[in-house]
Amino acid sequence: MAVNTTLAREGLRSPLAGEAGGLSGRPLKGRALEVLRHLAEGAEGLALVSVGGVETPWDLWERLKAGASLVQVYTGFVYGGPLFPRRLLLGLLRLMEAEGVPSLRELRRP
Ligand SMILES: Cc1cc2nc3c(=O)[nH]c(=O)nc-3n(C[C@H](O)[C@H](O)[C@H](O)COP(=O)(O)O)c2cc1C
Repeated sequence: MAVNTTLAREGLRSPLAGEAGGLSGRPLKGRALEVLRHLAEGAEGLALVSVGGVETPWDLWERLKAGASLVQVYTGFVYGGPLFPRRLLLGLLRLMEAEGVPSLRELRRP
């Protein structure tokens, strides 16, 4: 499973940037995708769970495309409310239809 929260604050412009503790959500997005791509290169046959900053159907698309077997949402769920997973999945379905991708298997194919 990759990734957990981060102690990094680079590029963060917020009066709360100095707060102690792990940061979750959007600031993690780029790094989480980068780590997933790195792991996927050497993880043939392993189940990869990607988490960190997933908030849109496109994020879901990118994680699956990069080799995630499962995608976890935490902060996005807190802010998006109980229908958040449904919106994500319906959005992913729309993206797949628009791009002519018939299945998740096809989406994940290298
Ligand atoms: C309030 C809170 C509690 C968390 N508790 C745990 C935990 O107990 N164990 C763990 O491995 N990760 C924990 N995490 C990290 C999340 O599982 C996840 O890796 C991280 O928040 C990044 O995903 P997100 O950007 O979707 O929130 C916690 C995150 C938050 C915000």
